[in-house]
Amino acid sequence: MKKIAPSILAADFANLEKEIKAVALAGADYLHVDVMDGHFVPNLTIGIPVVEAIKKVSPIPLDVHLMIDQPEKYIDAFLNAGSDILTIHFESSSLQKIKESLTKIRSRAKSGLTLKPGTDVTNLTSLLPLCDLVLVMTVEPGFGGQSFMQDQVKKIEWLFEQRRQLKLNFLIEVDGGVNLETRKYLDQADILVAGSYIFKGNYAEKIQSIR
Ligand code: DX5
Ligand code: ZN
Repeated sequence: MKKIAPSILAADFANLEKEIKAVALAGADYLHVDVMDGHFVPNLTIGIPVVEAIKKVSPIPLDVHLMIDQPEKYIDAFLNAGSDILTIHFESSSLQKIKESLTKIRSRAKSGLTLKPGTDVTNLTSLLPLCDLVLVMTVEPGFGGQSFMQDQVKKIEWLFEQRRQLKLNFLIEVDGGVNLETRKYLDQADILVAGSYIFKGNYAEKIQSIR
């Protein structure tokens, strides 16, 4: 059964505690937290103090998606803030630093690696053994509410096949434009992130419909 991770980017920020408890009660497995720095992506969202505050009230684990440059500078802070899964972008630092960051994350939480839609997924091969999770972006990172990029589905298929061939255990997560319509492309994914689809409507019904 698929795990569902609502993205709080689409929640009512003035009522975050209420929203988090409501999606948890509605059956969400993780809370997806989008952190953007205005450099790596052209948008700013939330930072370490908010993650810390969310952690205190969330009944479900935090799946923190860092869309920031040089994430190695902030790994400790996001782990201390309570990230249960911490995902960094392949393009956000040097290969060596990405390796070190994944190793560090893994010593305290679940390590995640992701890539922008334009990045070749085969670049990730040597890093896969360091990942508990690989996140496939099906929109250009930066904003919620965008349309699903169907050409990214082949990355999911490639990862599914690599996992089998290399006998690895990483989970495959998909983020961006996930809804009832695009769900049909996602049978090979383990975790589905959805923001606007879940938060516009009845949370339990929406979660159940894509699970
Ligand atoms: C985009 C974020 C996504 C986004 C998903 O940069 O990483 O998590 O919030 O939103 P929807 O589901 O609305 O595409
Ligand atoms: Zn995200």
